Amino acid sequence: MTSFSFFKSLFFFLLIISDSFMQINCLSCGINYGQIANNLPSPSRVSVLIRSMNVTNIKLYDANPNVLLAFSQSNVEFVIGLGNENLQNMTNPSKAQNWIQQHVLPYLSQTKITCINVGNEVLNSNNTQMMLNLLPSMRNVHTALVNLGLDRLISVATAFSFNILENSYPPSSGSFKQDLIQYIQPLVEFLDEMKSPFLINAYPFFAYRDNPNEVPLNYALFQPNQGLVDPNTNLHYDNMLYAQMDAVYAAIKVLGFTNIEVRVSETGWPSKGDSDEIGATIQNAKLYNGNLLRRIEEKQGTPGKPLVPIDVYVFALFNEDLKNGPASERNYGLYYPNGSPVYNIGLQGYLPQMALPSKSNVLSFNFVVWIVVTYLIFAWEL
Ligand SMILES: *[C@@H]1O[C@H](CO)[C@@H](O)[C@H](O)[C@H]1NC(C)=O
Ligand SMILES: *[C@@H]1O[C@H](CO)[C@@H](O)[C@H](O)[C@H]1NC(C)=O
Ligand SMILES: *[C@@H]1O[C@H](CO)[C@@H](O)[C@H](O)[C@H]1NC(C)=O
Repeated sequence: MTSFSFFKSLFFFLLIISDSFMQINCLSCGINYGQIANNLPSPSRVSVLIRSMNVTNIKLYDANPNVLLAFSQSNVEFVIGLGNENLQNMTNPSKAQNWIQQHVLPYLSQTKITCINVGNEVLNSNNTQMMLNLLPSMRNVHTALVNLGLDRLISVATAFSFNILENSYPPSSGSFKQDLIQYIQPLVEFLDEMKSPFLINAYPFFAYRDNPNEVPLNYALFQPNQGLVDPNTNLHYDNMLYAQMDAVYAAIKVLGFTNIEVRVSETGWPSKGDSDEIGATIQNAKLYNGNLLRRIEEKQGTPGKPLVPIDVYVFALFNEDLKNGPASERNYGLYYPNGSPVYNIGLQGYLPQMALPSKSNVLSFNFVVWIVVTYLIFAWEL
């Protein structure tokens, strides 16, 4: 009897300390599956990984047929991308319809595609022609969906960079850059008419990296901190991402719209960066993404929209070795290309046909715990 209760205490102690029993069930979170790399596993192996993680939403930057086929008969919902390089063609309605017929229609009976993201951060392209082409492209894609009877299944959106904002603090004073309003106003009208979300790529990491003496790290990382109070609304913000989202709501309101939902099409934190990229560490990335996933799981809203659960796509599934720019750009992944986690946030997945990574202390620790727990369950039942 005594030894049994000792075993039971030890058992529960191990349950508490082992991350492998604190699974995050990613039932409403999304992940960006970027593929600017030359060393990623095949889409069919990735589909096993994603399914084992219980991730239900994936965002692609293209409409890669190998990926869409690999997710046949799965419950995963896809946002697919129509890249900036296609926008010129999409201003032609018949080319837009051809694109849908070629890249979407053949996969729909097997794979759930729920949104087409037309262009990525086009308003940051500094390409006026492309910026002018964005709305006609979105309209033509929508019209093609209507013609094919798909407009109720598939929505049309476009992802904006957070730096289209002129002002973001306090959140209630959020506003768009004056010189971009001529483009944003008609886009927002279209999103409102389509009941499509306003997608924003938001990275508190950038704010921290660029201003580490002003921005409290814990505020950026969703860690306990005193937070900030918006003097106009008296709303209390305990993290920067929610403040950024509410700043976007405020900027949209200035344009006259209050019924458009703001969703986060990208956010994340790099686990590594150049020496001048303050804050890009494994520890911070683990805190940011782990805390974020917990808040998604709790279906939290922002202080300004408490009843609208945040809808977020984490960036990104893998580190992408061919991305340009500072080292951080190549280190946003939750996973290394070999399928081992960069850090453990309770989202373990399983990538088939790979040797166990030998360097991961986390995995070997969990493995030892697993052996001990299995033994204890066995002993308990004797
Ligand atoms: C995924 O969901 C299944 C069924 O709901 C559950 O048994 C499994 O533990 C979950 N896996 C993870 C990694 O959360
Ligand atoms: C645009 O369309 C033309 C033909 O209609 C095609 O040859 C070209 O590859 C397309 N451009 C892109 C970027 O897909
Ligand atoms: C944008 O384009 C203009 C004119 O082509 C150029 O002068 C300016 O430097 C560019 N800005 C950026 C940020 O690339």
